[in-house]
Amino acid sequence: MKRSVLASLVLIAGMGTSNALAQPEVEVLHWWTSGGEARAVQTLMDEFQSNGGKWVDMPVAGGGGDAAMQALRARVLAGNAPTAVQLKGPSIQEWYEEGVLADLSDVGAAEKWDALLPAAIGKHMKCGGKYCAAPVNVHRVNWIWANTAVLARAGIPMPTSWEEFNEAAVKLKALGVTPLAHGGEAWQDATVFETVALGIGGPGFYQKALVELDPAALSGPTMIKVFDQMRTLRGFVDDNFSGRDWNLATAMVINGEAAFQVMGDWAKGEFTAAGKIPGKDYQCSPTPGAGFLYNVDSFAMFKVQGGDRIAGQKLLAKLIVGENFQKTFNLAKGSIPARLGTSLGQFDYCARRSSYDMDVAAGSGTLLPSYAHGMALRGQQAGAITDVVTQHFNSDMGSAQAAKMLAEAVANSR
Ligand code: GAL
Repeated sequence: MKRSVLASLVLIAGMGTSNALAQPEVEVLHWWTSGGEARAVQTLMDEFQSNGGKWVDMPVAGGGGDAAMQALRARVLAGNAPTAVQLKGPSIQEWYEEGVLADLSDVGAAEKWDALLPAAIGKHMKCGGKYCAAPVNVHRVNWIWANTAVLARAGIPMPTSWEEFNEAAVKLKALGVTPLAHGGEAWQDATVFETVALGIGGPGFYQKALVELDPAALSGPTMIKVFDQMRTLRGFVDDNFSGRDWNLATAMVINGEAAFQVMGDWAKGEFTAAGKIPGKDYQCSPTPGAGFLYNVDSFAMFKVQGGDRIAGQKLLAKLIVGENFQKTFNLAKGSIPARLGTSLGQFDYCARRSSYDMDVAAGSGTLLPSYAHGMALRGQQAGAITDVVTQHFNSDMGSAQAAKMLAEAVANSR
């Protein structure tokens, strides 16, 4: 018995390290730097440290993670990958194909992840049938956030169709309020675009156009209508939207400068960090139309050497799917737990609505991966779509031309 314990310690210690009892250590690359995000990542750091781990933080600012992914590539090319990386969707498999991800199957088996994770989420966490990432949450992307007092002053309810949204926005504009808080970064344009595509075209259209990349759906009349609505929305943002961070756009809704923001529920993390109460200070409702666009954040572990670092990866992966972390993290982050059976007792109505709608969507085939947040497509294809969306939003390009360009860009990216 003693022998096998010793043998496994030596095994964990890995190549060339002398101290089998080294402290578990992780260097964590992530892009959670806004007020709400920082509070959320702190819960992970606290949990890891209180379980004896040493945390080396590697935050790379930039919503949506483009800058973080560039930093990751540079580190891997330099042969010095961080131990744990915020990574999600098909990009997990892309990194796996490069042979640089660590195998987490032993943690998954010991912790019974097969039973604790919904099949749809578990699928994203596996590479070649083995666990290679651990999920922290489920974010819903198709949300609209609003300032309660501003809506009350204008006498408008939460819109349930894009027509209603447009009418409300015209009214708000006349009152001198910015109808739509938006940050003109490509990923934010893409975030709005995918919710409009879902709302106007419906879940079937979304699936065909933005998951299956069907050329007829990408260039057809429904897509033209989607671009028409994007053009209309462009008229509802303020003059200074270009390059604004998403959380500063959320702040405009928080302080009443703007009425609405279309953004995933990480925006709720900002309202929470500002001490605001849903239903009282602000409203949440799904963007017009049926369906649920999901965005699951997860951590993948990169192949590293050293017993301390390998032990750190295993400890972190285990804690991430743990019941306590799934609760504390998601209360701060605005998302809902990925782990089945986590009590939502302490969660607000937006989170409960999200959880309920997700179940309904899963049962009706309308639970769809967010293309804008890297859940549906490989990087190049998603990038090709976003380039056209952002070019259209920031110019006077016509909708028919944008739809044609979209189909061409996707064809060239394959
Ligand atoms: C998303 C990510 C969220 C949030 C957001 C803004 O892609 O999944 O966790 O961080 O970007 O940075």
